[in-house]
Amino acid sequence: MSGSFRYDGVAVFLHWLTAVAIIALLAMGLIMTDLPKGSALQFSMFQMHKSVGISVLVLTLLRLAWRLAHRPPALPDDMPAWEKAAAHAGHLVLYLLLLGLPFSGWALVSASPFNIPTVLFGVLAWPHLPILSTLADKKPVAEALEDLHSAAAWVLIALLVVHIGAALRHHFLLKDDVLRRMLPRFSPSSRSANP
Ligand code: HEM
Repeated sequence: MSGSFRYDGVAVFLHWLTAVAIIALLAMGLIMTDLPKGSALQFSMFQMHKSVGISVLVLTLLRLAWRLAHRPPALPDDMPAWEKAAAHAGHLVLYLLLLGLPFSGWALVSASPFNIPTVLFGVLAWPHLPILSTLADKKPVAEALEDLHSAAAWVLIALLVVHIGAALRHHFLLKDDVLRRMLPRFSPSSRSANP
């Protein structure tokens, strides 16, 4: 348990790696579903989307394990209680989406009647989920999971807008350490007056 004002290096690394992966996944997801059906480009974007998406699932499990073993820095003392509660609730829902979204993606490809294998980054065969891959009538289940995956992605986008907006508000309006504590240490702006 440390009283440091910032997150440790592993937490910071996993946070920004996840952030880059999520932006890429959202962009790929929105672009690839508009490409001509069955085109080679659509196929390779689906494979890349699935590869990065499963990586986010694994990264999030690692992140949660790290988070449970390492206490995060305390929020500023002068932050109102409702804002602290809102921040914790928002982070909890973000974690749920970071697990639920990739899981629903995995489920939808498992239930797909097209039965397309997932090969992570072209090298590692990733299995379909049992039960879903052996359903007699896959189509309605796959369609419902596609709708769920898409709806969850839009909820994530909305929550990211709030998350990023809150971080920028703390940094530029309230001028506290809330964003700085999640910035990599080599960044000049990550130096705090009260380390
Ligand atoms: C955090 C992780 C993920 C995010 C943020 C994400 C995001 C998205 C988005 C925005 C779309 C477009 C939805 C729409 O049409 O409106 C999409 C579609 C899709 N995603 Fe993901 N995804 C994630 C993980 C995964 C994983 C792990 C898989 C599979 C292993 C996957 C498989 C798919 C497939 C197959 C589609 C196309 C569905 C369709 O044909 O309508 N996704 N995803």
